[in-house]
Amino acid sequence: MEQRLINKQIVLGVTGGIAAYKSADLARRLREAGAVVRVVMTENAKQFITPLTMQAVSGNPVHDDLFDLTAEAAMGHIELGRWADVILIAPASANCMARLLQGEANDLLTTLCLVANAPIALAPAMNQSMWKNTSTQDNVQALLAKGIHIFGPAEGSQACGDVGLGRMMEPVELVQQVAALFQTGCLSGKKVVITAGPTHEAIDPVRFITNASSGKMGHAIAAAAVEAGAQVILVCGPVNIATPAHAVKIHVTTSQEMFDAVMSHMSECDIFVSVAAVGDYRCKTIATQKIAKTAATMTLELERNPDIAASVAALAKRPFIVGFAAETENVVANAKKKLLSKKLDMIIANEVRTGMGGDENAVTVLWGDQQVDFPKMTKQKLARKLIEVIKGANNAT
Ligand code: C5P
Repeated sequence: MEQRLINKQIVLGVTGGIAAYKSADLARRLREAGAVVRVVMTENAKQFITPLTMQAVSGNPVHDDLFDLTAEAAMGHIELGRWADVILIAPASANCMARLLQGEANDLLTTLCLVANAPIALAPAMNQSMWKNTSTQDNVQALLAKGIHIFGPAEGSQACGDVGLGRMMEPVELVQQVAALFQTGCLSGKKVVITAGPTHEAIDPVRFITNASSGKMGHAIAAAAVEAGAQVILVCGPVNIATPAHAVKIHVTTSQEMFDAVMSHMSECDIFVSVAAVGDYRCKTIATQKIAKTAATMTLELERNPDIAASVAALAKRPFIVGFAAETENVVANAKKKLLSKKLDMIIANEVRTGMGGDENAVTVLWGDQQVDFPKMTKQKLARKLIEVIKGANNAT
């Protein structure tokens, strides 16, 4: 199955040309392939297809104005440019290509193309004479030289009655072309088990001991592993985050349940990523009735929970094991100690205040005698980079 577009954030630019009627089908197909689509329309595009149509098929508000106060407050042009994993302009008119080449920023779409670091791909669509024109051809060569991808155009009969090169590539082929811009399944055929979130250790029927883990990093790693083609089992403590498409989630509450679920999925497991903030201690006895607050002080007797990552490392047939270390001080030194004491293959360390609970994280990855630092970025982007590092290190073992 084609998984490369799962969770990919695509800005679909629509410019003014009759092929814009196919952009609705394209948006739908991109979503079916797992992508999140945000449509940006030029003024001319709206002559051919309505924003309402594009909004309905993309499932997101359509962006069409650089100076719209409400739109800018919701997701501004800079944010939208950074949001994009790829910008696909389909159809791309001759005018749009000329403007992109000049680096113009006089509407939302061209401005986004200047903001974004993401790859830009164009699906030209125009009359065959316009396509053949040396000005257009010069622009195409110059755009290619800038690293902009050009998909098509296709040959055939045109809306104006001409026959020749200039038809927009069909949506089904465009989806394949966009998918090909992303890394192919580097974990294809691998089984990856991931833990995420906190655990709850009951004190009585209504109270429990837990920690501040949001589960976001674990979910991002699971999504990135799915994108890379892995079969993903996500063993997750109590958090309310949607399961990444195509991952299998096992809900657990306590550390012991997490331990049992992980162990029951270790056969044929290739990579185990222990992202969860597992409760280190549990109550020695759990009160069967709610404890009344009569005493001025209260003492809980706690006992150690099994260390899941270390237990996986002790298995005779063990997967490649990646741990996480959230530290408040001596981040790298403490992480290194955990890497060795738990006999992990790799550890990903972060400073607690940088990562916990938020949407971004900055980490240091340690394995063998190697170290890689990743600066602060969204957990989604970071997760993809981590999957690449894990894959590389796993291959080397
Ligand atoms: O809690 P600690 O800092 O030791 O966690 C480091 C790594 O060990 C993390 O990957 C965490 O998921 C894992 N761990 C575990 N079982 C525990 C405690 C921690 O798998 N009981």
